[in-house]
Amino acid sequence: MMRTTVIFKSVAITLALLCGMAASAKSKTNYDESKVPNYILPELLTCNDGTKVTTAQEWESRRRPEIMEFFSKSVYGQTPEGELKVKYKVVAKDRKALGGKATMQQVMFTFSNGKMVQRALALVYYPNSRKKTGAPVFIGYNFKGNHGTSNDTKILYSPYFDSISNRKSELLQRGVQSERWPMEQIIDRGYAAVTMCYHDIYPDREDGAAQSLIRLLPTTKDEGSRWQAIGVWAYGLSSIADWVERQPWANREQMCVIGHSRQGKAALWAGVQDERFKVVISNNSGCGGAALSKRVFGESIRFITKRFPHWFCKDFTKYSEREAELPFDQHQLLALVAPRHLYVASASLDRWADPKGEYLSAYHASPLYKLYGMKGLESEQMPKIGEPIMNDVGYHIREGKHNITPYDWGHYLDFCDKVFGYKVVNK
Ligand code: GCU
Repeated sequence: MMRTTVIFKSVAITLALLCGMAASAKSKTNYDESKVPNYILPELLTCNDGTKVTTAQEWESRRRPEIMEFFSKSVYGQTPEGELKVKYKVVAKDRKALGGKATMQQVMFTFSNGKMVQRALALVYYPNSRKKTGAPVFIGYNFKGNHGTSNDTKILYSPYFDSISNRKSELLQRGVQSERWPMEQIIDRGYAAVTMCYHDIYPDREDGAAQSLIRLLPTTKDEGSRWQAIGVWAYGLSSIADWVERQPWANREQMCVIGHSRQGKAALWAGVQDERFKVVISNNSGCGGAALSKRVFGESIRFITKRFPHWFCKDFTKYSEREAELPFDQHQLLALVAPRHLYVASASLDRWADPKGEYLSAYHASPLYKLYGMKGLESEQMPKIGEPIMNDVGYHIREGKHNITPYDWGHYLDFCDKVFGYKVVNK
């Protein structure tokens, strides 16, 4: 009896080991171009019933809604209808910020559904030089709190960090990610910037929902397509735009949404849904952002949905290790931005985000720009490092690691100057 148990046990262990090995081999990240599967990208301009789209009008009335439906039901989840009440309170103001070139404001947003409230703090800089004409505005999140974007001690801690201050003091470091929001560079070029900590909207943790804005909004019945963090972050970006467009110092026709990495995914989804964003910028957004999923290079749907189960809607996991079965791909998400302007950027060492997949995605979105008489990316070949493309779709690849740097910002500013017709100032 004992012997049988031992044999049984060892067979079980061997089997488990074999299965484990198979699973880990299967889940091994692919960084080899020759191992990219032979994928077929879903058609941009052919409707689900096979009808070809030849005009912008057909695109808007027929094809665009089909693509939109897929992304909202099977990738990011559905954004519920209904508006929240938001109260805004300016909690700090400095008219002579950055050596007098800018006005800095900190504005507390209090979202309410009548029963519950959620607070989020916006940090705002606008150039004093464009107060009368209204400045173009970048809207985007930061990772480490508003205080993490600057060494200026006047900048308050974001509410989320206040709430956890006793536990993780290293998160309270001031200025840790200041190069990601180079306010002086932005102001010198005549732009305004509004940033908020994304944890204020939805704490980026598996159990973050309980402390997020999601509690205040109705949920959809279908659990599989219910929105999660990326959807809620996108909603938060639009909430910032609701406030910005009423500000006298802002040019409401020149709002740009920007995001790095996971926030790049959210910026794309916000930019797609909210047409008030005239320029949509994805910085190293990778898997579930700009990069094509069907290439299965770098991060995969399997990894992202396992590691971050709170980002996408549950139904997205259906495509884990089944990228070939995806009826749509991320180039179609990018195409939903047209005819507004799109910029995608990669970094040379950021293989996890698949720079080539990010480029090809923007390239394959480009026929849509052509349909609108605009110019997207024209070559299937990626440009070299340091050779940005600035058509109606912009793209650059920077030397270096996964990050957003003043170099990237320089290109975004150039692109926006071109889109909005500004003469380059103080470059
Ligand atoms: C992880 C994650 C990526 C994400 C990145 C980031 O690497 O796998 O999908 O883009 O974090 O947000 O920095």
